[in-house]
Amino acid sequence: MNWKTRVTELLGSKYPIIQGAFGGFGTSAIAAPVSAAGGFGIITASALRTPEGLREDIRKARSMTDKPFGVNLSVGLCPSIDEMREVAIEERVPVIFTAAYRADDHGRRIHEAGLKWVHKVVTVKHALAAEQQGADAVVIVGMEGTAFKNINQIPTLVGITTAVRTMKIPVIAAGGIGDAHGFLAALAMGAEGVYMGTRFLATRECPVSERYKQKLVQAQPWDPEFRDRCLAPPKAEEYQKVMGERGSISQELWLQRLEQVLLNQAPRGKEIDWERDFDEDMALRIAGGSLAVGVIDRVMSVKELIETIIRDAEEILSRKGNLGRLLK
Ligand SMILES: Cc1cc2nc3c(=O)[nH]c(=O)nc-3n(C[C@H](O)[C@H](O)[C@H](O)COP(=O)(O)O)c2cc1C
Repeated sequence: MNWKTRVTELLGSKYPIIQGAFGGFGTSAIAAPVSAAGGFGIITASALRTPEGLREDIRKARSMTDKPFGVNLSVGLCPSIDEMREVAIEERVPVIFTAAYRADDHGRRIHEAGLKWVHKVVTVKHALAAEQQGADAVVIVGMEGTAFKNINQIPTLVGITTAVRTMKIPVIAAGGIGDAHGFLAALAMGAEGVYMGTRFLATRECPVSERYKQKLVQAQPWDPEFRDRCLAPPKAEEYQKVMGERGSISQELWLQRLEQVLLNQAPRGKEIDWERDFDEDMALRIAGGSLAVGVIDRVMSVKELIETIIRDAEEILSRKGNLGRLLK
């Protein structure tokens, strides 16, 4: 079966399956095998901490696969973000993903350099803004997904189906997707690719502990740790208050306050230094796993995961599967 969409054409991948960014540990160790298996892997610049570290890791990924991969620049989290961007440009990484906050200045520079720009957002409103700012595609993360949250975030199904009604650029679906059913559902909603974070955590190549991978296998989406991280919306009043503080306190402190409000956490005693403190432990504590845990039943290699999703999707669409029977 041919899985070509505008997203595979943009990324140069065989399948429209993208591996999410992971602050703290999203290096070539996971990105290269994903690209080699026909998906699209992403190196998270902040995981390498320095521009030179990023350059080395891009070169390492190139020694591991001849397939294209991307780099993620998370605005507000990535240290030396402008220098990181320039390294990705100099190394001719074909598609640069930005995330978190407004990134049109990065987008302009990426385009000037002749490369592609994909922006990741968590609200439809921000997806429309990214389209206006010239993004080549957007990733929209629905409420089922982990990491950045926003008071206006809505579930994946409603967000994607709403966005594709008006957007002209390709939309990539994220949030709670982890198997062939979610993959096909996203395509049926009008997305032209899927972007999975949590499901890729439970792969052999992902550089997180075996203990954490087993926890994801055993977890259920309704376990409070996962449910509350994804579905407990921030309190509107506190959200408004922290948004009003933007610009009046340091960006680092403001991001920490915002994150506490978004994740409904109690205020922390000390300020975090993202460059120094944002390691694997902190990444897992803040974002470690979404409602996609419901479809993680074992740890497998990245190749096996991608092949399983594609094989199961083809089976669902075949005469033997439910949809296939309807299509007969
Ligand atoms: C441990 C962890 C760390 C993450 N760190 C980042 C990050 O630094 N930057 C970013 O853009 N997204 C980050 N994400 C979000 C993922 O890239 C992706 O958007 C999200 O996992 C999608 O939802 P899903 O987990 O339901 O697939 C992180 C996700 C996890 C699980």
